[in-house]
Amino acid sequence: MANSESLVPPQHIAIIMDGNGRWAKQRGLPRTAGHAAGAESFRRIANYCRTLGVKYLTVYAFSTENWKRSQDEIAGIMRLLRRYLEEALRDMEKNRVCFRFFGDLTRLSPQLQKLCLDAQSRSQDYDVQVNFCLNYGGRDEIVHAARAFAEEVAQGKRSPEELTEGLFENFLYSAGVPDPELVIRPSGEKRISNFLLWQSAYSEYVFMNVLWPDFTPEHLDEAIAEYHRRNRRFGGT
Ligand code: IPE
Ligand code: IPE
Ligand code: MG
Repeated sequence: MANSESLVPPQHIAIIMDGNGRWAKQRGLPRTAGHAAGAESFRRIANYCRTLGVKYLTVYAFSTENWKRSQDEIAGIMRLLRRYLEEALRDMEKNRVCFRFFGDLTRLSPQLQKLCLDAQSRSQDYDVQVNFCLNYGGRDEIVHAARAFAEEVAQGKRSPEELTEGLFENFLYSAGVPDPELVIRPSGEKRISNFLLWQSAYSEYVFMNVLWPDFTPEHLDEAIAEYHRRNRRFGGT
């Protein structure tokens, strides 16, 4: 875990945890085995982020488009999420991870929704904040926010002229969380797939040729080192 340790890591890293299916296929295993391996990878990377002093880790776990997959695969992913959250609730004090969930949770099972709410309310000001994107879509998030603002206008609480970028952000799932400086997509795909469309306006993207279950702390070091080599201009010179 070499080169990036001496540099200050980004405060907020976001990861599209992609490539579980291909990892399983390479080994002749069912896709669910790939998701189980992906969950292990997540545990490893969340711990490493805490070691590095990264304050926010946002992970794309299930998109609004992932419902297109087979019932079997979806059930397998939901089972893994349930298991992970039960374990996280048990080990809350030890892991010192604070949870938030980005996405429309109402489509999840009542049991899973309750686990999410419990994890969110029981984990307070810990070292790392993990933002779990579940039934999350960047477009869905923006529509959801626009609707919430419009409702306040309809109720006479706000006027349309009041709306600024800063105010709009308060209606996003990510309200209060700074934008990610770095977004990492493993698996070799070079697209955003509806992830953090608003928040990643000026993020540095690092695409990596490694499948998520094979992603190690060294890969994170590599992505952070690449981030440090970038020249961020935000439209300036
Ligand atoms: C990411 O891995 C996990 C989810 C989208 C839930 P994939 O399942 O998309 O893996 P590939 O892209 O098929 O390899
Ligand atoms: C993005 O991966 C969503 C998650 C990792 C949860 P996908 O595998 O769903 O994206 P596409 O289909 O390759 O664009
Ligand atoms: Mg994929």
